[in-house]
Amino acid sequence: MKKIAVFASGNGSNFQVIAEEFPVEFVFSDHRDAYVLERAKNLGVASYAFELKEFDNKTAYEEAIVKLLDEHQIDLVCLAGYMKIVGPSLLSAYEGRIINIHPAYLPEFPGAHGIEDAWNAGVAESGVTIHWVDSGVDTGMVIKQVRVPRLAGDTLDTFETRIHETEYKLYPEVLELLGVEKKEDG
Ligand code: GRF
Repeated sequence: MKKIAVFASGNGSNFQVIAEEFPVEFVFSDHRDAYVLERAKNLGVASYAFELKEFDNKTAYEEAIVKLLDEHQIDLVCLAGYMKIVGPSLLSAYEGRIINIHPAYLPEFPGAHGIEDAWNAGVAESGVTIHWVDSGVDTGMVIKQVRVPRLAGDTLDTFETRIHETEYKLYPEVLELLGVEKKEDG
């Protein structure tokens, strides 16, 4: 049985969707006041939170993360709105076992503002991508991606909502594809 951990920096709606269907060993947030921690509590999922600024440097911060992953014997790290670049310490320990969801059709619109950037570029369609994490920003090998149209009459809000709804379908699909078992009661 593959054990997964989810990393999220803020809201955690993707975490929620994942945790409703799959057993999540723990959630990690790099912000102690992130709403995802509230969601974890409500779902009975263990959580950890600490911040980069509490450590001497990013290496020490990531070593603390690796320790957690090792202790819990995590097979797959699912980034879902984790807003930090994965650095060498975490990557060297877990490369090939970290995936990320990006709210655009990579390699189109990488970076922190994939939805707004696609919207501002006036595209007819954007998408959602789940990919393996490498040392670049949203550059790793694509596992699965789907197109999301921009419809006549869309506002940034409705477009964004459609992207998020697509994310909520794609993450569970990819976890199944990677052999993560669903919850027994789910
Ligand atoms: C998602 O759109 C994800 O693709 C991006 O950050 C957002 C996180 O949303 N990387 P949430 O925290 O899961 O609600």
